[in-house]
Amino acid sequence: MFLDFAAMEPRQAYQWMVSAIVPRPIAWVSTLSPDGRANLAPFSFFQGVTCNPPTLLFIPANTRDGRKKDTLRNIEANGEFVVSLPSFAQAEQMNATAALLPYGESEFEAFGVAAAPSQRVKPPRVAESGVAFECTCLQIVPVGEGPFAANVVFGRILCAHVRDDILGADGAIDPARQDAIGRMGGESYTRTRERFALARPDRANLGPPLPPGPVAPPPASAPSVPAPGAA
Ligand SMILES: Cc1cc2nc3c(=O)[nH]c(=O)nc-3n(C[C@H](O)[C@H](O)[C@H](O)COP(=O)(O)O)c2cc1C
Repeated sequence: MFLDFAAMEPRQAYQWMVSAIVPRPIAWVSTLSPDGRANLAPFSFFQGVTCNPPTLLFIPANTRDGRKKDTLRNIEANGEFVVSLPSFAQAEQMNATAALLPYGESEFEAFGVAAAPSQRVKPPRVAESGVAFECTCLQIVPVGEGPFAANVVFGRILCAHVRDDILGADGAIDPARQDAIGRMGGESYTRTRERFALARPDRANLGPPLPPGPVAPPPASAPSVPAPGAA
């Protein structure tokens, strides 16, 4: 079968892409409206970008009528967000927060998601997530325009909260305890319970893997990276 994406409707292209590009990790993104209402929504167009400087991206697309999603509006207003990672136990709650609520209505409140304060940014994080990255917006890159067009949000990772009970004896995140989920096509998801290892062919050149382990937290007064255009 040959697929000519130039001849497809955007929705059809979307269906092929999301069923082929799997599994996708899920960023559960919290933001604050200018009047301080917390917003929470999942995004599976999500990836790490680089560790130098620590950066991630996620992609709020425009709605089917071409409007910006609340998450994007809030980040444009104040340049801050938190990416919490949902576990299998949080899957239904995460899915509920994808509901399109009127702007300013909090998914934390509507769906009973417990929030915890962040350290370096104002939006709260999801209290029970195993990992939560506090970020400031580095750049927003639009791709396309109108319905379903993308807004690639690059975030500088300032700090992270990692729940102690998802750490293994070696101090690194134990994937079995994290129990992360991934999005497949349509409304299906996958768990991360099956794993296999492959030795890197160039390991001799790379040296031994870095020992994992806890990293000392920087002093609370350490300056955060200001977001361009942040209020
Ligand atoms: C698992 C999952 C992944 C999603 N991934 C995306 C995505 O990558 N980009 C996007 O624009 N919407 C995505 N959505 C839909 C948004 O979560 C949904 O439009 C939400 O209402 C946006 O909220 P907001 O308007 O508060 O920002 C996803 C939904 C689910 C359930």
